[in-house]
Amino acid sequence: MIDARAVVDAGSTVDHSAYVAPMAVVTCESRVGRDVFIGWHALVGKPPLLAGAFARKPDVMGGAILDRGVRIDAHATIYTGARIGRETVVGVGAIVREGASIGRNCVIGQKVTVSHDCRIADMVRIQDGSFIVGGAVIGEGTFIAANVTLAAEADIEALREYRHVPDTQRPPIIGAHVVIGVGAVILPGVIISDGATIAAGAVVTHNVAPGETVMGVPARLREGGMAPIARAAA
Ligand SMILES: CC(C)(COP(=O)(O)OP(=O)(O)OC[C@H]1O[C@@H](n2cnc3c(N)ncnc32)[C@H](O)[C@@H]1OP(=O)(O)O)[C@@H](O)C(=O)NCCC(=O)NCCS
Repeated sequence: MIDARAVVDAGSTVDHSAYVAPMAVVTCESRVGRDVFIGWHALVGKPPLLAGAFARKPDVMGGAILDRGVRIDAHATIYTGARIGRETVVGVGAIVREGASIGRNCVIGQKVTVSHDCRIADMVRIQDGSFIVGGAVIGEGTFIAANVTLAAEADIEALREYRHVPDTQRPPIIGAHVVIGVGAVILPGVIISDGATIAAGAVVTHNVAPGETVMGVPARLREGGMAPIARAAA
């Protein structure tokens, strides 16, 4: 059901079983599947951000694609070219940027940003306020606690000079069944392997091997052993 106060443009398609709440907008040839819920003031199919020198991918065409049973909560924004898998929930005020792909049965918390071209596998949970930088990859079943930040820009001078240098972006790669504690920061180019644990508040500057636990600033291997998650699996 499309509420009379919602806007669905002519190029977009909304399955008859979907619900589009008042003030929600579905635009730019987006496709909304069966049993999808789109909350108040949500925006599905927002055109790419264009900001002068920082313009990126103005060619991202095709709207957002929401698979069956997706829930987009109030005030969330899904850009063009983003794809959201079955039964995934995108929380209040969350942002999913151009070309990002999110798997099925994921939970994306309130005010999370999943930036452009991220690849998020199935059953990933990202809690409120986390920032997933453009191009990051996150493996299946990984848990990211609240207010975690993934960073990608390795060239600090480029930032100082207001230059955008796509070649210096090195988004982190996070494996499957990783747990990242609250407030952790993952720096550019870091690879976190399957089953690793990142302690709350850690600043991760180096790669983390499978099953390792790291903690602190900068993050160091936890003395005396394996991550709880690896112990449980052994
Ligand atoms: C990393 C973590 C899993 C370690 O748990 P643990 O193996 O039970 O560790 P312990 O509590 O036995 O602590 C071991 C040592 O590490 C220290 N430590 C624990 N967590 C730490 C952290 N986040 N940063 C720095 N040091 C930490 C402890 O002080 C202790 O040091 P000590 O031996 O000198 O006293 C856990 O502390 C953590 O950070 N969990 C994340 C919680 C979270 O964010 N949950 C999200 C959902 S709400």
